[in-house]
Order: sequence, then structure tokens, then C-alpha cells
Amino acid sequence: MDEAQIDFSGFPAGGVAVVIGASGGVGGALVTALQRVPEFSEVVGFSRSGALPVDITSEASIATAVQSLSGREIRLVIDATGFLHGDGFMPEKSFKELNAAHLAASFAANALGPALLMKHFLPLFPRQGRAVFASLSAKVGSIGDNQIGGWYSYRAAKAALNQLVHTAAIELKRNRPEAVCVVLHPGTVTSRLSAPFAKSGLHVRPPAEAAADLLGVINRLAPTASGGFFDYKGASLPW
Ligand SMILES: NC(=O)c1ccc[n+]([C@@H]2O[C@H](COP(=O)([O-])OP(=O)(O)OC[C@H]3O[C@@H](n4cnc5c(N)ncnc54)[C@H](OP(=O)(O)O)[C@@H]3O)[C@@H](O)[C@H]2O)c1
Repeated sequence: MDEAQIDFSGFPAGGVAVVIGASGGVGGALVTALQRVPEFSEVVGFSRSGALPVDITSEASIATAVQSLSGREIRLVIDATGFLHGDGFMPEKSFKELNAAHLAASFAANALGPALLMKHFLPLFPRQGRAVFASLSAKVGSIGDNQIGGWYSYRAAKAALNQLVHTAAIELKRNRPEAVCVVLHPGTVTSRLSAPFAKSGLHVRPPAEAAADLLGVINRLAPTASGGFFDYKGASLPW
């Protein structure tokens, strides 16, 4: 990991950064990297296994997490949660494998949960000054970029996430013109999520590198970029 400090000088000093999904590969690396940013007075990481457990499929647990931040100046919220496989489900290779329970689980974790995070976290943003909400999506959620098919549940749920974030960004702009709300693709990163699909020849990056890149992009995003879908280099991705 590049130990160089990431420039967050565009953020007002003294704010709080929040990472949901702090137990994940990318989420954990984001917490570690953010702890070195002097502009943030505190970095709060939430996860299902944390002291205050947050399961994004439970709105009550999100509301409890938000209550625990009462009175704090929230300037950055990163949703690093995501679900690709587990609970007996693996990404579909064919429409013959489509399963309602798998689709529902993917939408619950990848789209509905992040939507509820926006419902509860976006109102915490100060009306003045820079604030960013970034949800980790995936390039495979791009409909325009889909050349090879497969992975129905994950692709569709991430596409839904992209639409939800884009829609919230339009509303957020009305009373928080300096705020930014985006979806970001972290690249292919070593983690539990990607482990079954790691194959030779695929460029898989360590989480610390992905975290540094993502924070660099977040720092550079202008308010005019709000509502967008960007990769870890800051390039705009097709919907
Ligand atoms: N890794 C890649 O190559 C890659 C590529 C493209 C996009 N992404 C996206 O990047 C993000 C981070 O992925 P990652 O690679 O860091 O995967 P990861 O290591 O598997 O982390 C996923 C995180 O999501 C959390 N999570 C899942 N369901 C949750 C729920 N219902 N409530 C709360 N937390 C929940 C997990 O919590 P637990 O620890 O409790 O399970 C974990 O903290 C995801 O959105 C993923 O889709 C990753």
C-alpha cells in the first residue's frame, strides 16, 4: 500500500467518515486508509460482526447505527457492502439457473440495503460544504458494457443500485448543492467475494491498492459528478 497521505483538503476539517461493510476486503482497507486522513476527526466502521452490528437488510439496524452518530458532522459515507455468492448460491451461468430466492437475496443486499443506507445517511449530511456518499457497485452491473452475459442476479441488482444512487443524487442536489452521491467500481480485488473466480491471467489487485485508488477518485469528484458511475481510475462507466 502506498503510505502517502491521500489529499482530502477539499473536505472541511473535523468531519466523520463512515464505512459500512468494514469487515470486507475493500471495506476494511478503506477504514485503514481513512484513519490516516487528517481531515477526518473519526472513522466509524460498521459491519454485521461489529460492536454495533449493522445488517443492511434490516432497516432497524441501519436506524440504530445512524442514531449512534447523533450530533456528529458526517462528511463521507462509503457503502462497501456487496453480495455475489453464498447461502448456497453461485452466480448463474444460464437463464436455466434463475432462482427467485437467489434473485431476491441479491437484490436485498446489493440494491435494497444500499437504498435504505441512503434513506438514513443522506439526511445527516450538512447543508453546506463538501460531503460524499459512495456505494461500491460493479462494472458488470453496466447494461451497456454487458458483452458476455451470465451472473444475472448480481448484474441486475447492481444495475438497480446504480439507478437508485443516480435518482437520489438528483434529489440531494436540491438542498445540498456541494454534496456528491455516486456509484464506484473498485476493479477486481482480492477478497472473499472474488475468491472463487480468481484465475491466472486476471489482474486482481490487493484491497489496499483498491482503497487508495477509490479514495483518490472520491477526493477528486466535483459536485457536477454527482449521480455518476465511475471506475477506480475516475473514468466514467456506461450505464
Ligand atoms: N472484489 C472484487 O473483485 C469486486 C469487483 C467489483 C465490485 N466489487 C464490489 O465491491 C464491494 C466490496 O466487495 P469486497 O470485494 O470487499 O467483498 P467482501 O470482502 O466479500 O466484502 C463484502 C462486505 O459486504 C458485507 N455484507 C454483505 N451482506 C451484508 C448485509 N446484508 N449487511 C451488512 N453487510 C453485508 C460483508 O459483511 P460480512 O463480513 O458480515 O459478510 C462484507 O463486509 C461490493 O459491493 C462488491 O460487489 C468487488
